Amino acid sequence: MARPAPSYVCQSCGALSSKWQGRCDACGDWNTLQEEAANAGEAAPKTSLAASKSKGAKLNLVALKGDTAEPPRAISKITEFDRVTGGGLVPGSAILVGGDPGIGKSTILLQVAAKLANEGKVIYVSGEEAIAQVRLRARRLGLDEAPVQLAAATNLRDILSTLEDASPRLVVIDSIQTMWSDVLESAPGTVSQVRACSQELVRYAKRSGATVLLVGHVTKDGQIAGPRVVEHMVDTVLYFEGERGHQFRILRAVKNRFGPTDEIGVFEMTGEGLSEVANPSALFLSSRDEGASGSCVFAGIEGTRPVLVELQALVAPSPLGTPRRAVVGWDTSRLAMVLAVLETRAGLSLAGNDVYLNVAGGLRVNEPAADLAVAAALISSHLNIAVPPQLVFFGEVSLSGTIRRVAQGDARLKEAGKLGFRGAVVPAQPSGEAKRAAKGEPALTTYEVADLNGLLDLLKDGPLGG
Ligand code: TYD
Ligand code: MG
Repeated sequence: MARPAPSYVCQSCGALSSKWQGRCDACGDWNTLQEEAANAGEAAPKTSLAASKSKGAKLNLVALKGDTAEPPRAISKITEFDRVTGGGLVPGSAILVGGDPGIGKSTILLQVAAKLANEGKVIYVSGEEAIAQVRLRARRLGLDEAPVQLAAATNLRDILSTLEDASPRLVVIDSIQTMWSDVLESAPGTVSQVRACSQELVRYAKRSGATVLLVGHVTKDGQIAGPRVVEHMVDTVLYFEGERGHQFRILRAVKNRFGPTDEIGVFEMTGEGLSEVANPSALFLSSRDEGASGSCVFAGIEGTRPVLVELQALVAPSPLGTPRRAVVGWDTSRLAMVLAVLETRAGLSLAGNDVYLNVAGGLRVNEPAADLAVAAALISSHLNIAVPPQLVFFGEVSLSGTIRRVAQGDARLKEAGKLGFRGAVVPAQPSGEAKRAAKGEPALTTYEVADLNGLLDLLKDGPLGG
């Protein structure tokens, strides 16, 4: 039999290539292509299905409408986790929890497993840590009394046959990169192994009605297959994010067949594991440097919840020919756009300056609604005018320099009012609406700005008496 032609698989995105190259054409990552033997199952079929003689069985076609009860969800009572999953774990679903190594995936899943173990059988399979290590962690978290059943294993065949016998309600696989199926020759952690093992486990979940939680590491250097190849197989994808130096951790739903996406859960890493943060705004604003120039508060929305965060900007003369632009927690190209609009439309001369932008607390802001707050922070740092600390900002900056309205203005204002802010700089509203919006419980004064020049004037004149 002829040796199958080698194929190269990107370990980051799973794209196939017939020859080795330094950079993956599909995702643009470097050094991620690895040779993997083509499997019989993946080889191209010789004839098309329609042309072949043997006929398949007829599918049972049904109507869209039918009585299917909402499945009872398993609620962990860790409110932040339940919120992100869309109100609890759905039986028969597969969930991927991705994140950098050391961010706290094993910790949160052990906590969830311990909570749910009181209501049904829970099996925790660790492929990374020995039994003793997991036990030590459980003791440190004060969870060692929970009836979680533990196994240290990596062979998928063994794991599946154990699961078939035990029929648990919840299974945690930590991590998918350590699992291997003996059907394949490639090493654990390669794309084919990760894909095959995930497929088996997803199929197991659907078949048995158990919920399967898969841990997936994301690494930049492509050493371990990124869980991106798994994303489309599972029902829900959660990402655990956070800056390593900060104690805050954010669990974000990026895909959810059973709930909303863009929902976040906020946790704090403590000595006793991850504790929930019920009021993230208060936390993100807790160590604010009030009165310093370059700092202002953005009233954002994460999922269904308003979240207030501090933005910090530093504009400083640059000794470099190409000034530096450094961003933490926001989009670099979005910053470039706001800078260009500030230069062109508001006449601010920022060329020749280094610009640093930081979202305090380790949160990643994805909303364009943060544009106005970013612009305010940049202006404040550049002109060395402190923004009054009782002000919040939201609004989208368009290329023409006008400020566009954004969704959920009322919710943003309400949260700001609740946290003791006294004013809000907002996009110009159609007449009448602003008055209505400002009618929160502790009334907020709204300052409407139509464009960036309006913002500049407002900051120079000093609202709220400077
Ligand atoms: P872990 O859950 O092992 O991360 P992952 O599974 O995502 O790789 O968390 C590891 C980090 O969390 C480790 O650096 C120590 C820290 N940690 C605490 O600070 N407090 C705790 O109670 C625990 C269990 C871990
Ligand atoms: Mg781990």
